[in-house]
Amino acid sequence: MGLRRFLKNFFYKKKFEKKKYINNISDQKILITGCNSGIGLALTKELLKSGNYVFGVVKQNSNNINKIKSSNLKIITCDLRKIENYDQIEKNLEDIKIDLVFNCAGMFGGSSDEQSITGFEIEKLKDVLMANSLSVMLIAKIILKNSKPKVIVNFSSDAGSIKLNKGGDYYYYRISKTALNSLTKNMSLDLNGKFGTTVFSIDPGNVATNMNPGGIIESEKCAKLILDLISSNDKELNGKFVNLLGDEIPW
Ligand SMILES: NC(=O)c1ccc[n+]([C@@H]2O[C@H](COP(=O)([O-])OP(=O)(O)OC[C@H]3O[C@@H](n4cnc5c(N)ncnc54)[C@H](OP(=O)(O)O)[C@@H]3O)[C@@H](O)[C@H]2O)c1
Repeated sequence: MGLRRFLKNFFYKKKFEKKKYINNISDQKILITGCNSGIGLALTKELLKSGNYVFGVVKQNSNNINKIKSSNLKIITCDLRKIENYDQIEKNLEDIKIDLVFNCAGMFGGSSDEQSITGFEIEKLKDVLMANSLSVMLIAKIILKNSKPKVIVNFSSDAGSIKLNKGGDYYYYRISKTALNSLTKNMSLDLNGKFGTTVFSIDPGNVATNMNPGGIIESEKCAKLILDLISSNDKELNGKFVNLLGDEIPW
């Protein structure tokens, strides 16, 4: 690793160092998608530890989440790309009042060539849009039948910021996260007015996960920072696109 890269990573990590994290979330019923790996798995573990009930959505593979032995965990299998799978979520949440939702599931979609303006395939773009953006609306529609959730967190990325886009390419990922940001803003207006729900988009940053093996923050630390953010200022986050420190990112 070059010196410049080393220093950049060093100062990036430094920004997120905190002595103490607040997590005052307990006794809540929480839906987390993408809970078999990365940030979703780390959030699931933290929230179970602090005494919540978690409904964890997996695409198919549940090898990691299955290792957690807890009577407060219900695993739901739903490939979010497939509309016919959503009845699994509906069935498992019948008569359940969900308090918090973490829409963490996401897919990157392929290499820059595969996602380029000359290389993209429309069916793949539709899949990424379903998994990364439209799933959030479908899940909200199911939950809102019974629940007035307090918080909905949508996992976005600075790659979805129109203003910050200096690089081009990555059509699937960028478009899907931009769409997610748009529906975050819309839902924040609708649901905050009706139920007082806080809806916001978060860019979790550069986190070491399957999606980003070269990431420099551990998923456990990322999860703690997100819970700290919600515990400290959930009301102020409504309708915003923020990083792990709560700083706003331009849409
Ligand atoms: N890590 C970063 O640096 C970074 C940066 C910016 C934004 N993000 C966002 O953070 C979120 C969490 O990602 P991560 O970094 O924790 O990566 P990850 O470990 O790959 O987690 C993504 C999760 O989403 C699940 N998923 C993907 N497609 C799905 C589908 N069709 N149906 C249901 N579940 C599906 C995956 O399940 P399978 O493994 O079974 O496919 C996986 O468990 C994503 O939305 C990502 O875009 C991450």
